[in-house]
Amino acid sequence: MTYEIALLPGDGIGVEVVDATLPLLEAAADRHGFSVETTRYGWGSERYLEEGSMMPDDAIETLEPYDAILLGAVGHPDIPDHLTLRGMMLPIRKAFDQQVCKRPSVLFEGVESPLRGYEGGDIDFVVYRENTEGEYADIGGHEHRGYGHEVAVQTAIYTRAGTEAIVRAAFEEATERDGHLTNVTKSNAQAYGMVFWDQVVEEVAEEYPEVEVDRLLVDAASMDLVRRPDEFDVIVASNLFGDILTDIGAIVSGSMGLAPSANINVEGHSPSMFEPVHGSAPDITGQGVANPLATVLSVSMLYDHLGEEAAAADLWDAVAEQLADGDAPRTPDLGGESGTTAVVDDLRSRL
Ligand code: NAI
Ligand code: MG
Repeated sequence: MTYEIALLPGDGIGVEVVDATLPLLEAAADRHGFSVETTRYGWGSERYLEEGSMMPDDAIETLEPYDAILLGAVGHPDIPDHLTLRGMMLPIRKAFDQQVCKRPSVLFEGVESPLRGYEGGDIDFVVYRENTEGEYADIGGHEHRGYGHEVAVQTAIYTRAGTEAIVRAAFEEATERDGHLTNVTKSNAQAYGMVFWDQVVEEVAEEYPEVEVDRLLVDAASMDLVRRPDEFDVIVASNLFGDILTDIGAIVSGSMGLAPSANINVEGHSPSMFEPVHGSAPDITGQGVANPLATVLSVSMLYDHLGEEAAAADLWDAVAEQLADGDAPRTPDLGGESGTTAVVDDLRSRL
């Protein structure tokens, strides 16, 4: 079996962590009797600065045949973030109907949480974030620019199809985990979109009577992810809320450099995309200290999605083992003094 994987390293440390992870991607495949053929596309901000667009016009057609996509990060200090995001990541998520964004938050053994009293294993939840619509729908306008009556409108979209897809995926995950789902909402203030969202959660819940459902307003959820993160199992949230909550999830679990994510095309007609949650981190780009583990864990999720569970488990376990080992190299975000390469070399030997 050979899988074709498109690599989109993107910008900044995105390039560093994707390049560093490639030997591990291949090593895990070798060990389990399948192979991967990777093709690297150097799209991103450098291209934008030279040619005026992040990706070529036929980017989506080019990516369509791949079994999966591995993305680093996009974002450049000289380009407004909405141009980079809307020029590459969002169009891919939308074109390939990657409706489900899955982001686990795990406090690994050997990692220090900034929260007092939490130890390895205490935090282990997963956020299911709606990924193609909601507050990130590209619908709105900006008129009368520069005048006193200037106006900007940004509309959130909640379709039945999109909302059911993310909610159902979250319930499915809950049945495979502890059977506990938290619906994060804001239906007190957003009386159309979020009331509809809650209604869909209640409807889908009837198909999963064994799953216990809690409802939390997003402001309270933000507080509780800091106050009692150990009590969460599966969280379902809209695009914006999920985006914010997963940064909280990443940091209470020790570092942005440890948080992986999957953008999943549920029906399987287009490739799914895997990426670390973090951005291009211009503050540490070029120093060789970016933590590659979020990307390694994202590759683990990629293999899991392709049905290569053993290779996925190998990568996940190697990361867990390295983090639990007090003598293993660590990047500065985890309190260590090692660089990206040392971390990857150590993982390679553990594989
Ligand atoms: P960021 O995630 O790039 O960085 C936030 C902080 O975490 C920085 O201090 C950075 O050094 C640290 N950090 C992040 N990843 C790390 C890693 N692997 N190892 C060690 N430290 C790490 O977020 P920020 O600074 O808000 O955004 C920078 C750029 O990235 C912006 O242009 C933004 O739009 C873009 N961005 C892109 C994302 C994506 O491509 N998925 C997601 C978030 C931001
Ligand atoms: Mg984010």
